[in-house]
Amino acid sequence: MQVKINEGCIGCGLCVAGCPAVFSMGEEGTAQVIAQPTAEKFDEVKDAAANCPVGVIEAEEG
Ligand code: F3S
Repeated sequence: MQVKINEGCIGCGLCVAGCPAVFSMGEEGTAQVIAQPTAEKFDEVKDAAANCPVGVIEAEEG
């Protein structure tokens, strides 16, 4: 799985709270990907992508 955060994060922090192994809040108050997810984190990342209020988390299987 490849994860990225597209432009438009409003810094709600949901992804960081839900999966701190992959997402972290950057200095500009927007989230960033700090590590690509291991298999056991896939569900957390999918939840984060589904629940991000602005839908900027892109998670590609494979
Ligand atoms: Fe930003 Fe969405 Fe995460 S708004 S902080 S990428 S849940």
